[in-house]
Amino acid sequence: MKRFHSLAELDPEEVAALLALATRLEAAPEPSALAGRILGLLFFNPSLRTLASMQAAMARLGGSSIVLTPGSGTWKLETRDGVVMDGEAAEHVREAIPVLAGYVDALGIRAFAGGSDLAADLADSGFGEMAAACPVPTVNLESALDHPCQALGDWKTLDDLGIPGNGKFVLSWANHPKPLPLAVPAAVVHMAAARGMEVVVLRPDDYALPEPVLERARRAAAVSGGSVRETSDRAEALEATTAIYGKSWASPLHYGDAESEARLRRGLADWCIDLDWFDAAAPGCRFFHCLPVRRNVVVTDAVLDSPRSAVIGQAHNRMWVQMAVLHRLLGGVR
Ligand code: CP
Repeated sequence: MKRFHSLAELDPEEVAALLALATRLEAAPEPSALAGRILGLLFFNPSLRTLASMQAAMARLGGSSIVLTPGSGTWKLETRDGVVMDGEAAEHVREAIPVLAGYVDALGIRAFAGGSDLAADLADSGFGEMAAACPVPTVNLESALDHPCQALGDWKTLDDLGIPGNGKFVLSWANHPKPLPLAVPAAVVHMAAARGMEVVVLRPDDYALPEPVLERARRAAAVSGGSVRETSDRAEALEATTAIYGKSWASPLHYGDAESEARLRRGLADWCIDLDWFDAAAPGCRFFHCLPVRRNVVVTDAVLDSPRSAVIGQAHNRMWVQMAVLHRLLGGVR
């Protein structure tokens, strides 16, 4: 494996091998597998899980990591092409990334969506250009349109909980004070489709996922035997579901227009996932969220504090699957 940018770049056998390796590493530590190897972590945006779990993953395999947060103890970095750099940014990623690549064996990059231009965010070119400038293996730590570490950890969590590979998986839009990126919904809908699940995207009318996001998931479903559809009919979507994955995202119809989006959301406060959403679900149905989550806006305390909630296991699985990714990328030895 030369890079880890998206689960959509891996064939089913490669995903299965990563999941098997993650489970093996969870059961049998390999504290010297990456001895002497260094991982660079470049975070343009905040994090709790990704930052801590990548560092923990590297350390548990015997390697070490360097964390850089541009603009906070590190020069503010420019990412745009052709710009006159007479503003805050002192350095361009075109120099910074090749420089860092000389110090490390792999580089993880987090660079969220701009949130103003839907076509640009769907192209995911910001992360792609930085990765292209990097001569060592790169890991996507959440770009404009993908979050493969989250998706792989979620796949392992579904497996750990015994949720059937062909079970019903509802990705539900949820309320939130801010318009959020499409990266997690895009990654998760693809993951569940690639796992072979009956994927239902439940969302209000103005929140249909962009066609390229659905098309990528449908291509995965065509290989796995799964399916992908959207609905705004909550009762129909939730009936017999084996998983409810809550996540908010910006309306593609109002993308970049915060005022219009805020008006729209005023009528959507009942999209806060509560225990009664599970009334008609399959008995073992669990609640998933990538975290961070806003309690009693996205989902109620009653759900998060109940045995339905899988969110802590999801976060823990981030570390095991990232250990597998790093092991593969850096040629870990047992
Ligand atoms: N789920 C996730 O990526 O969490 P962080 O933003 O805290 O890294």
